[in-house]
Amino acid sequence: MAACGVGRLTCLSLCAQRNARFQRPAFRPLSSPGTVAAAFRREELPSGSAETGSEDRSPKKRFTEVQKERREQAQRTVLIHCPNKISEKKFLKYLSQHGPINNHFFYESFGLYAVVEFCQKESIHSLKNGTHTPSMVTEAAIPFRSRFFNLKLKNPSNQTSERPYIQSSNQLPPSSKKLFELLCNAESIDDQLNTLLKEFQLTEENTRLRYLTCSLIEDIAAAYFPDCTVRPFGSSVNTFGKLGCDLDMFLDLDEIGKLSTHKNIGNFLVEFQVKNVPSERIATQKILSVIGECLDHFGPSCVGVQKILNARCPLVRFSHQASGFQCDLTTNNRIALKSSELLYIYGALDSRVRALVFSVRCWARAHSLTTSIPGAWITNFSLTMMVIFFLQQRSPPILPTLDSLKTLADAEDKCIIEGNNCTFIRDLNKIKPSENTETLEILLKEFFEYFGNFTFNKNSINIRQGREQNKPDSSPLHIQNPFETSLNISKNVSQSQLQKFVDLARESAWILQEEDKDRPSPSSNQPWGLAALLLSSITNSKSLAKKKNKRPASERIRNLLDSIKSNSTENATTANGKRTISTHT
Ligand code: GTP
Ligand code: MG
Repeated sequence: MAACGVGRLTCLSLCAQRNARFQRPAFRPLSSPGTVAAAFRREELPSGSAETGSEDRSPKKRFTEVQKERREQAQRTVLIHCPNKISEKKFLKYLSQHGPINNHFFYESFGLYAVVEFCQKESIHSLKNGTHTPSMVTEAAIPFRSRFFNLKLKNPSNQTSERPYIQSSNQLPPSSKKLFELLCNAESIDDQLNTLLKEFQLTEENTRLRYLTCSLIEDIAAAYFPDCTVRPFGSSVNTFGKLGCDLDMFLDLDEIGKLSTHKNIGNFLVEFQVKNVPSERIATQKILSVIGECLDHFGPSCVGVQKILNARCPLVRFSHQASGFQCDLTTNNRIALKSSELLYIYGALDSRVRALVFSVRCWARAHSLTTSIPGAWITNFSLTMMVIFFLQQRSPPILPTLDSLKTLADAEDKCIIEGNNCTFIRDLNKIKPSENTETLEILLKEFFEYFGNFTFNKNSINIRQGREQNKPDSSPLHIQNPFETSLNISKNVSQSQLQKFVDLARESAWILQEEDKDRPSPSSNQPWGLAALLLSSITNSKSLAKKKNKRPASERIRNLLDSIKSNSTENATTANGKRTISTHT
């Protein structure tokens, strides 16, 4: 489900720092303190020195608050395809005739685009009223009046004479070369994990563009279902999104019912005449089918629309060309939204969580454990669950179990979806921070040790109870769905893919352990720590072999793995049910 990311993104804030150069990670003020922007600014700070004492303890927003504010912001925002050479000053002056602008930025993705947030929604009506549908010579235009506009120059020579002042910053993840440079120049493994997080996490602008894209799709769906809501979920909003990740959207039709205020006066009750279908699933398929058609025929910038209606969770997949996002639109998928909220809480509770998840996700991707094609591979969602589970096992635990989050819940947190109890505390300020002070370096090493030795053939991963449990079935990898507890979120994973994960985890634990004894000096230009782990096994083995000038590392790793494999079939488990391995050859 990977998407091509947004290209070069340029950004300037009109209200605050009109001509300030965009610099990361220090974010310029985007709106008043206490807004979503402020919450995201906090996220952008280098996240998570292992000393938890240095963590930001200021109040954190609830997931629903963030969603509400972002959505409202997106509704006041438009997307404009601009000529390449444009005077920013004139552009803003021209648009300001429709009302004051709160914020704007430019990005490049097969052309120059501007995202413009007005202070008031009314400005958009004014802009729409002053806009005409293009008349075509050879083709015919479908007169759909969206919030996605095309800006043309009346007099190009007049505009280009001015030197354009549009500064850009690249919003794609760094190239492998740049990443290795950054990682090799880091001061410690902790620093490496935090650097990777900083380079890969979604930027403020990318997040805005994701909410805007949902809002634009909502406008199209509203043609059929006025008052529907299209909400982003998954890694776009759960704090674990990497630049370039797909945009998961949820078409929420339930809110419509809630809008009607039942007037219980009199002897009658009026309800809508509706068409009935045999099941909820068929209703979902019919709705998505028609929305898919609509996106395909009328949706500006929506291309490659595929209706995947027979999947367990029916969806419409398409590319939103202007934003560069690969989009998956589902409906009747409220539990996934709740999962996103849960992950958001886990991601915000301790700064080490996101740093570790990002590194594990990048490690898995670097070794082709995860791919963008659906199949027998581990997914990012499963990897995140594994990290959460691992952090629940630490002593003292870094993350609470889902059951303990349920115990902390108030009456207003109660949530039952399709008979599944999805209740947990939503105010993360009420959750006590962990007293665990382990470094990211230790956690990364221990993560690989832990899962390199996990009894996958016997045990299931369960973040609800936070402890290993007997597997209820024979799937190679069993990770209990936190809300639909009879389901396994990694049912698709094959034995060979699981074995590959285990082998790589053992190898990575071993590399880190070996390095402890003999860490290359920063001036040696040798990949070390996380950089060494992200290299493919072959390249890595070569560099280790060169460094140690002993037997080739590939041979040592093979011997080690052989000994581990034979140990793991022969060795008895320890008292607490975990196996131990020796990582020495
Ligand atoms: P990316 O790989 O960055 O897109 O991560 P993601 O978390 O967005 O994963 P994905 O796009 O595959 O799925 C989107 C969301 O759907 C996840 O965050 C989960 O909330 C939910 N989801 C994905 N796979 C499963 C699954 O197997 N079972 C359940 N219950 N939910 C899932
Ligand atoms: Mg996703």
